[in-house]
Amino acid sequence: MCGIVGIIGTQPVAPLLVDALKRLEYRGYDSAGVATIEGNHLDRRRAEGKLVNLEARLKASPLSGTVGIGHTRWATHGAPTERNAHPHATETVAIVHNGIIENFFSLKTELQAAGYAFHTDTDTEVVAVLLTQALDKGLKPVEAFRAVLPRLEGAFALAVLFDGETDLLIAARHGPPLAIGHGDGEMYIGSDAIALSPFTDQVTFLEDGDWAVLTASSAAFFDKTGATVERRAQTSSAMHMTVDKGNHRHFMEKEIHEQPEVMSHTLAHFLDFSSGTARDNRAPIDFGAIDRLALSACGTAYYAGLIGKYWMERVARLPVDIDVASEFRYREMPLKKGGLALFISQSGETADTLASLRYCKENGQHIGAIVNVPESTIARESDAIFQTLAGPEIGVASTKAFTCQLSVLVSLAIAVGKARGAIDAAKEVELIRALTEAPRYANKALKLERQIEKIAGDLAKVRHILYLGRDTNYPLALEGALKLKEISYIHAEGYAAGELKHGPIALIDENMPVVVIAPHDRIFEKTVSNMQEVAARGGRIILITDEKGAAEASIEAEHVVVMPNMPEILTPIVYAIPVQLLAYHTALAMGTDVDQPRNLAKSVTVE
Ligand code: G6P
Repeated sequence: MCGIVGIIGTQPVAPLLVDALKRLEYRGYDSAGVATIEGNHLDRRRAEGKLVNLEARLKASPLSGTVGIGHTRWATHGAPTERNAHPHATETVAIVHNGIIENFFSLKTELQAAGYAFHTDTDTEVVAVLLTQALDKGLKPVEAFRAVLPRLEGAFALAVLFDGETDLLIAARHGPPLAIGHGDGEMYIGSDAIALSPFTDQVTFLEDGDWAVLTASSAAFFDKTGATVERRAQTSSAMHMTVDKGNHRHFMEKEIHEQPEVMSHTLAHFLDFSSGTARDNRAPIDFGAIDRLALSACGTAYYAGLIGKYWMERVARLPVDIDVASEFRYREMPLKKGGLALFISQSGETADTLASLRYCKENGQHIGAIVNVPESTIARESDAIFQTLAGPEIGVASTKAFTCQLSVLVSLAIAVGKARGAIDAAKEVELIRALTEAPRYANKALKLERQIEKIAGDLAKVRHILYLGRDTNYPLALEGALKLKEISYIHAEGYAAGELKHGPIALIDENMPVVVIAPHDRIFEKTVSNMQEVAARGGRIILITDEKGAAEASIEAEHVVVMPNMPEILTPIVYAIPVQLLAYHTALAMGTDVDQPRNLAKSVTVE
């Protein structure tokens, strides 16, 4: 993952690089660093941990160069120490890298045999040393870069600075995304357009295999063969996106509270509430002609997909194959030509999801993407984009993107059901009328926050928690457990309530809290039986249900969170809110770093 930036201009760039890195910290925060050319020589400052440490380092020892590169790291090769922090440099080259150089070991061995020394445990350093070797052989910087690029295997986005070259920056993309920003007498490199948004809205997204040579006033683009190519700049919408916490303590809290509004925007984009019909904005895919759907995603987006499977099969009568993208991409799934493959991703950059997409493309599938970032690689490689209108999601633990993904999936299930003749007009109106109410119920769910905060105080004292649910609330139980473990570091597992007796019941004792997500739906009674099994063994039940469910549960629960009664189709969307609040407040009680939990990153551009 990692975030990279580069700036070339006429004013000191170190403060601007740090400003851009702040917007990329979601990609990793194990260490950070910048390098500029001071006088005529490369110089750099690096610090372990978050950007504030680098800022302090720069305050004590400023850099004043007008060309520079910066990096915020999510460690892959080498511990997150200052020694392993980017930029990596030799006397003549400094480099920042996002991705993995897969053949670094053989290259390093070769370079060591040629007498070059290495000072870090990273894969990246090998690129700096290879470039140095090429310069030592007498090549000029651009030619050295041209010679080295084909030797690198793996996935990388790179920005390179050369000693003594105050009007030159080189960038390359092979896998992870990279954007070039065009300013007035200044040029920029960034892992995404948001990083560049304080500087410019004119952005060129490099195509896979591209590289670019920048001066303060020009950009030349080359493709993977080394031939000059035209790459147009486009106006990025990122400039208008606000990324502050408002009155909230954390981005995650803010994003949880934004959900009624953003789910409303997203639903309204796909559904016409006044007529009760699904909007026809799915071109160019003919939903009526599809007889099977392949779904793939990672993390929270995958759990959204699992819920989507229930809807697609129940509402649209369309069989769905779904898998996490890291498995999907390698399991050689047979696909009938002309099928639909749908990929769900907040960032639109997740490496495994993108690889699964490409597999499906090669196998003749129509490609649809549910993405939050319309300029992302997944969006750009898809035939149809179904955008979640969640706005920028900064908290590493996904919240509003999840409920917006669900909003899109349920809307698509209605559209597909209609196109396939699986639902009639009356059913379509009924479902859409129900969904119209989702934001209102979500607002009501947010009002339960104080009660959930109290429950969280109890959960913060335990080491293990089980989440149970059935039907569409089973994937929500998986998501609840994921959310909790991501940000509180408490071990949590989600289970289909009916599976309890096949294993996890052995864990139940008086120390084990069990969060049961059980609206009064068609299988409520079955879930109640599973709760009885927990209660009989002394387990501590935290029941999230509705008024009807609370009245009929006949269970001694330690806590009951009572949601309003609502149509069944809404429950996984609206019940996501108490589940997220429970994780958030438990993490607060534990005192963890909610927005930037340890070891995680928001955008995962490596395998
Ligand atoms: C990371 C994030 C998760 C996210 C997953 C998939 O693990 O921390 O919040 O669900 O990646 O990301 P995507 O951008 O593809 O939705």
